[in-house]
Amino acid sequence: MANLVTSLCCVVLAAVVVAYPRNADRIQYGRIGSDVTMQCGSLDNDASVSWKMNGTYVKAQHSLEGPRLILTNVSLNHTGLYTCFQKQDDDKHEAIFLQIGIPPLEPTITCRSNTYPQGFYCSWHQQHSTYINTTFDVEVQHNQRSLEVKKDLFHKNRCHVRFPEVFSSFPYKVNVTAINALGKASATKTFEESSIVKPDPPERVTATPIRFNPRRLEVSWHSPATWPDIDNFPLKYFLRYRPLIREQWQHVELSDTTSHNITDAYAGKEYIIQVAAKDTEIGTWSDWSVAVHATPWIEEPVPVVSTTEVEFHTGIMTAETKTSPMPCSNAPQKAEPPVGGAATVITFFSRLLLGMLLLLLM
Ligand SMILES: *[C@@H]1O[C@H](CO)[C@@H](O)[C@H](O)[C@H]1NC(C)=O
Ligand SMILES: *[C@@H]1O[C@H](CO)[C@@H](O)[C@H](O)[C@H]1NC(C)=O
Ligand SMILES: *[C@@H]1O[C@H](CO)[C@@H](O)[C@H](O)[C@H]1NC(C)=O
Ligand SMILES: *[C@@H]1O[C@H](CO)[C@@H](O)[C@H](O)[C@H]1NC(C)=O
Ligand SMILES: *[C@@H]1O[C@H](CO)[C@@H](O)[C@H](O)[C@H]1NC(C)=O
Ligand SMILES: *[C@@H]1O[C@H](CO)[C@@H](O)[C@H](O)[C@H]1NC(C)=O
Repeated sequence: MANLVTSLCCVVLAAVVVAYPRNADRIQYGRIGSDVTMQCGSLDNDASVSWKMNGTYVKAQHSLEGPRLILTNVSLNHTGLYTCFQKQDDDKHEAIFLQIGIPPLEPTITCRSNTYPQGFYCSWHQQHSTYINTTFDVEVQHNQRSLEVKKDLFHKNRCHVRFPEVFSSFPYKVNVTAINALGKASATKTFEESSIVKPDPPERVTATPIRFNPRRLEVSWHSPATWPDIDNFPLKYFLRYRPLIREQWQHVELSDTTSHNITDAYAGKEYIIQVAAKDTEIGTWSDWSVAVHATPWIEEPVPVVSTTEVEFHTGIMTAETKTSPMPCSNAPQKAEPPVGGAATVITFFSRLLLGMLLLLLM
């Protein structure tokens, strides 16, 4: 019974390629590169017929054997409506819609829990289009039990599963079978509960300049709304920021807070800021949040000449913001290695000093 539920729940259409025309009596499928034989109704072997494809007579290069049309080495452009006629009368005898495609390949499966400890979802995709309607059958097993699988309302190749228990040491096994008229193929994925936990990125990230503080930015954010129980399953955060004019990020890892003051910003420079989240114990980092931009407070109006000087005086990096090294294995996606704080300051200074010297020499 459980199996029936899972099978019915998650039959999802992959791609609607060609609509089945209403005027076809039946539909026939052929595999790319194979030879396809179409039979005109149930006519006898000595019947003499002619064929049309999409309304035009089929050329002589296709072989005809009595009531049969044989297409060799078919390709996608053989897809169409084939109608056959008996030679004596002009009445259409049968209309066959021929669809050319390929059997499914093993689907690629990814599973993730962004709603830990409630549940997880799995999504899958075909490595290659099959050109014909393909459905998917999904089975999830845990501790020798079939779990209920619910189809996602918005994403067509996605299903949801509730964790039957938390902190389970039994692995989960997901089996996705792709089925179409030309064949089927299954793939399975086995994983532990803890390995698939990956929250959504933090939300509503803001960065605000602080009045009279030319080197500060106050960053705050909210935990992802999809994370169901922040009190019992707290998240930690990873903040990265850089001035637009520089390539390298600075990083800070934080827990028990959803705000942080950047205290080593370069005065007057526009910053780009992002935050990622991770369960404090298990799983991997979320993707980065949407980038926010902010510029520290500056005294207005700024005389153009003194800009360099302001930068020079405030160019000393305070040790207040501790830059922590990136956790390498499970760091947020697309993250660069940590910035060497000291080296950064030195290069920055040497450039400034060079600039100053040049100014003095002039
Ligand atoms: C493919 O599926 C769609 C949606 O269910 C259906 O309308 C269409 O007729 C199907 N095409 C074929 C060739 O079966
Ligand atoms: C079948 O057709 C393809 C192109 O559609 C061609 O590359 C291939 O050589 C053909 N095979 C045979 C056996 O004719
Ligand atoms: C179908 O495509 C093959 C190459 O893939 C080409 O040789 C052939 O002429 C095409 N047939 C039609 C009817 O367009
Ligand atoms: C024949 O008709 C089908 C269905 O309308 C269409 O997809 C196909 O491209 C047509 N083929 C040719 C060779 O005209
Ligand atoms: C996956 O499910 C299909 C269809 O139910 C089945 O034929 C296949 O044996 C299963 N594969 C595994 C590894 O369980
Ligand atoms: C950041 O600075 C503001 C004002 O300077 C202060 O009110 C706030 O508590 C600070 N936040 C943190 C997380 O230190």
